[in-house]
Amino acid sequence: MAYENILVETRGRVALITLNRPKALNALSSGLFVDLNAALDSFEADENIGCIVLTGSEKAFAAGADIKEMQPYTSVTAYLTDLITPWERVSRNRKPIIAAVAGYALGGGCELAMMCDFIIAADTAKFGQPEINLGVMPGAGGTQRLTRFVGKSKAMDMCLTGRMMDAAEAERSGLVSRIVPADELVDTAMDVAAKIADMSLPAVMMIKESVDRAYETTMSEGVRFERRVFHSLFATEDQSEGMQAFIDKRSPNFRNR
Ligand code: CAA
Repeated sequence: MAYENILVETRGRVALITLNRPKALNALSSGLFVDLNAALDSFEADENIGCIVLTGSEKAFAAGADIKEMQPYTSVTAYLTDLITPWERVSRNRKPIIAAVAGYALGGGCELAMMCDFIIAADTAKFGQPEINLGVMPGAGGTQRLTRFVGKSKAMDMCLTGRMMDAAEAERSGLVSRIVPADELVDTAMDVAAKIADMSLPAVMMIKESVDRAYETTMSEGVRFERRVFHSLFATEDQSEGMQAFIDKRSPNFRNR
């Protein structure tokens, strides 16, 4: 399917979604989310897809919500149109999404990357929550997710001053999982995604769900949830096959992938 604001392709069991509004540095418009959410719906339903990579351009993953679209809004139109809420679809995806970030990931761009399951950054990546410079504040989860990633002090610094964080600081702070040279970004992210997509899909999805639980609940409830989900994996053929393959010193042949 052709989209106006994104490009999609599949390589094996991995789907690659590229934000594609180059003239606006991939500013995140409402139309872009119509496309992105439709693509996620289709990959979620596609049994041949096990992992998704979301990326932008060399210059910008995304420079934030579309300021030109938002400028005329009033609080009434923001409320009535439920501005930003459609973005949350990304964080509810059940299959994993890796954000591959080069260049600017600012405002909603940083927030979108943080809605993904983890972030692989190019050495050119720059993260920031500059909404304060526009007389507003992060509105797509930035005050909550950035604080959980990097802690209160750095989150306050970033959100109150609007300063950018480079890739090295982002890795040091736990915002990104690894840094790679810019020209290797997408290939590296696709390789990582292919590795995940080759695992047993129920195990992958249950791990994702369980790690996400850590943000939503207490330690004891989270551990209890993890234990129940872990027990349920013993109902899968892939548990039996994965453990037998280890004993046989061979690669597992997972059925559910
Ligand atoms: N919305 C709409 N258009 C944007 C945009 C955005 N967030 N960011 C960049 N653009 C447009 C520019 O207006 C410009 O368009 P024209 O050529 O038509 O003038 C084009 O993209 C290129 O941008 P620049 O000329 O500014 O490029 P630059 O290299 O000089 O600067 C930049 C790059 C530092 C990223 C700068 O574009 C910038 O500061 N962008 C805005 C960043 C920002 O404030 N993001 C937060 C948005 S609010 C938000 O996201 C709310 C939320 O939490 C949900």
